[in-house]
Amino acid sequence: MAGDLWEQVVSWEPQKGPQTAFVTSRVFEVVYGGARGGGKTDAALGDFARHAQTYAAAARGLLVRRTRTALEPTIERAKEIFGPDGAVWHDQKSRFSWPSGAVLYFRHLDRDADAELYQGHSYSRVYVEELTQFASPAPVNKLKATLRSPEGVPCGFRATCNPGGPGHNWVKARYIDPGPYELITEDGLTRIFIPARLADNPRLLVNDPAYVARLKQSGSAELVRAWLEGDWSVIEGSFFDKWSARNIIPPFRIPQFWSRMRSFDWGYAAPFSVGWWTVVSEATACGDVVLPRGALVRYREWYGSNGRANEGLRLDAEAVAAGILEREAEERSRYEKIGFAVADPSIFRQDGGPSIGERLRRAGVGFRPADNTRVGKAGALSGWDQMRSRIAGTSEGPMLAVFDTCRDFIRTVPALQHDPMRMEDLDTNGEDHIADETRYACLARPMIARPRPVPTKADDAWTREWGRGTSWKTPRSW
Ligand SMILES: Nc1ncnc2c1ncn2[C@@H]1O[C@H](COP(=O)(O)OP(=O)(O)O)[C@@H](O)[C@H]1O
Ligand SMILES: [Mg+2]
Repeated sequence: MAGDLWEQVVSWEPQKGPQTAFVTSRVFEVVYGGARGGGKTDAALGDFARHAQTYAAAARGLLVRRTRTALEPTIERAKEIFGPDGAVWHDQKSRFSWPSGAVLYFRHLDRDADAELYQGHSYSRVYVEELTQFASPAPVNKLKATLRSPEGVPCGFRATCNPGGPGHNWVKARYIDPGPYELITEDGLTRIFIPARLADNPRLLVNDPAYVARLKQSGSAELVRAWLEGDWSVIEGSFFDKWSARNIIPPFRIPQFWSRMRSFDWGYAAPFSVGWWTVVSEATACGDVVLPRGALVRYREWYGSNGRANEGLRLDAEAVAAGILEREAEERSRYEKIGFAVADPSIFRQDGGPSIGERLRRAGVGFRPADNTRVGKAGALSGWDQMRSRIAGTSEGPMLAVFDTCRDFIRTVPALQHDPMRMEDLDTNGEDHIADETRYACLARPMIARPRPVPTKADDAWTREWGRGTSWKTPRSW
């Protein structure tokens, strides 16, 4: 098709810099992300105006957002941009159509499963606005599969996004981490990330000079920096907002007499998570960080994910038990004493045959049902509060720390978001399995001030007690 060569005349003009790069790119997948007000939505709409101009009736576009409400302002802006080209909005069909026959559908995907409805459709352009609102790439991939053109139009996927949101992690890993304007080719398909900064949208700054001042008043210094610069290392509204570098410590040899426990969140299609914890017996310096007495330290983990965001290994209970025993074997031969083990209480539910909990126990890995309180009633410190206050710690140091080898914890937990409908709870659209399992561990050992342990003689007796690894008993001196 000779369309590529036509002179493109549409009323909307891209601004210099990233908007121009976005609308002229021939790359299959282009993600434009970063600052709020950077001109991303305008660029997406302008891109389709040009596409429609070039390919006429062969231009078939789909623009998707998470919610209908979020679509409204985009539709209003689209009327301004497409109107001068003669495009008309049809409210019932929720689409624009051009006199040339080009069409652009506006849709929202309330549920990930709604992406199935597009199977068999063909589009030459798919736009996803606010890509980070999608917790997993699965529905987005289904939309991508609709990109094909019987007329031979070069098809393309285009997305816009801001840092933060339930999909922050996978979007950052796939598009942002490789670097801006870095062309990646995978399975014959190309992709590129274009960073958005507010400074690239002088139009907005001229039309609305107070915009930056308003932004600055609407969030913390870090958040405003993320919005202005499009900084992906700052996470908007993270649930564990007190998480910091002092919660990550280099591994050390755990004294033999320290108590240990294991916590578990079951998953099959979704990841499972096993965490191994020790309780600091005596304030311990660890690099620059002091671990106060009673702090929980995650010294090992096993995250049952197949490497794709929020997808599990699909192992049965027996295989998980074998994996746990294998990971404990080395220490068991010396002194691992898992004094206590807690798991997601739902694994003890019977559903016909033996429960998952029972099967694990038969395979040699016992758990007790964990306290599954997420949110405390009227002032009670429970569930997430416990975990957050442990992460925040005391002036002495953090009451929850993880060895820097616990990569999946470090990757997922600090990035988790608030549930937008229920701020005191975590957004369960995120990858929350490790956080759940950590919450069980926190509730198993409530944070209470304890007197110093009785010295050596009692410690020896204590060590023998732990050495048997049979039951969890709190030494009387605690
Ligand atoms: N190329 C352009 N031409 C005219 N106005 C623009 C252009 N790009 C951006 N703007 C203005 O900047 C505003 C903010 O841009 P928008 O695309 O909504 O930002 P983002 O989606 O990155 O938050 C738009 O509503 C529009 O008024
Ligand atoms: Mg936008």
